[in-house]
Amino acid sequence: MSNKKYDVRHKYDSTANRYDARYRDIQKQKYFEIFSEIEMVKNGTIIDVGGGTGLLLDYLQNKNLTTIITDISYKMLKEGRKKNHYGFFICADSEYLPLRKKSGDLVTCISVIQNLENPQKTIEECYFIIKKKKFVVLTALKKLFDLENLSEIVEKIGFNLHKTWLLSVEDIAIVAEKK
Ligand SMILES: C[S@@+](CC[C@H](N)C(=O)[O-])C[C@H]1O[C@@H](n2cnc3c(N)ncnc32)[C@H](O)[C@@H]1O
Repeated sequence: MSNKKYDVRHKYDSTANRYDARYRDIQKQKYFEIFSEIEMVKNGTIIDVGGGTGLLLDYLQNKNLTTIITDISYKMLKEGRKKNHYGFFICADSEYLPLRKKSGDLVTCISVIQNLENPQKTIEECYFIIKKKKFVVLTALKKLFDLENLSEIVEKIGFNLHKTWLLSVEDIAIVAEKK
């Protein structure tokens, strides 16, 4: 594992027990704005890449969906597991996801890619795991990412852009569909 990944994992491992108290409201606002723009899948599989403590799972509260949360930080996942017994929590680097091709009906990667050395590799993994004609949702810190540049990368990988915009808090957001 590279030094950067090791440091990121260490940072989230060591603050995992405080993450929800600090970020729940802000992440909730992001989810609200995102799911005002796309119709929520009613059944099937949601894969939340870099899903941390599963705040998205708490927000969705939909037991008809199979939800898979992957994250590089074991302790973030452990916090998530304490709250949720119906999601699948998988400790994995987003650049090498141990998931099948076209397994997701919705893939989300929210507030993760600013932590990555190579965001493109993770977006390619999202492309691999999402089914055709289904959406991937990506967000990243406004202060570190340019919406146009990131949109270009997403299109180059093979997605159609569905919507790109600035969230009211912190992040840029992209919803893209696999052709
Ligand atoms: C700001 S938190 C966001 C967590 C969650 N998506 C949310 O909405 O609350 C960033 C997450 O990305 C994870 N992360 C960072 N680098 C990663 C990588 N290479 N692979 C998987 N997860 C990663 C961190 O461990 C952390 O849980």
